[in-house]
Amino acid sequence: MRRIDQILSSLGYGTRREAAAWVSEGRIHINGVPATRADQKADPTTVTVDGKPLDHPNGLLAMLHKPLDYSCTHSEAEGANIYELLPETWLDRKPTVTSIGRLDKDTTGLILITDQGSLVHRYTSPKSDLEKTYQVTVDKELDPTVIETFARGDLILRSETKPCLPAHLEITGPRSAALTLTEGRYHQVRRMFASQGYHVESLHRTRFGPYTLDDLPEGEWKYLDL
Ligand code: URA
Repeated sequence: MRRIDQILSSLGYGTRREAAAWVSEGRIHINGVPATRADQKADPTTVTVDGKPLDHPNGLLAMLHKPLDYSCTHSEAEGANIYELLPETWLDRKPTVTSIGRLDKDTTGLILITDQGSLVHRYTSPKSDLEKTYQVTVDKELDPTVIETFARGDLILRSETKPCLPAHLEITGPRSAALTLTEGRYHQVRRMFASQGYHVESLHRTRFGPYTLDDLPEGEWKYLDL
């Protein structure tokens, strides 16, 4: 049970002062009964604003189809960022929403968004062995020996000492492939291909652990169960 002004402000509905005004205006109900005071305590799942239940009162998880040229950053200095594609109220939540890991500006596809720090930690921890699948196109014909090179688990990327864990490469066309990794090192896919003499021309993530992008249109998001 928390104070309703705190609940509303932490879920991005406005300031605590605004929440107090809505209580006076009779716009807030608890279990269908009008709230009388802003410091009244309630279970967030029982609170409504203008008759509508609160947006994901127990935390939020969503999937976004990141378009090309959007950065996974809260900074506005780097051009377009993914947070512009999400509801503004999500950014006003405390804690605010953040992506689970990042995709490069020139990578497209599935990125998870949450306000649950524990989830970010769980999914991005080096101990996490979640599989991520990327569709890759490269600048020249793929040699099938790369499959074995990536699968062996002894590939050492430039300026690193620890080999990459085994990764599964499926060649899907002369210059295209699907790569499944369990790690998430900086620019890992591009650097793995670079180590074999290929330049990655396009990179698109279709899967992150149990979640797949399916037919979610580019630039759109959808809620996932927490
Ligand atoms: N690997 C990369 O090189 N870039 C990404 O955006 C994701 C994985």
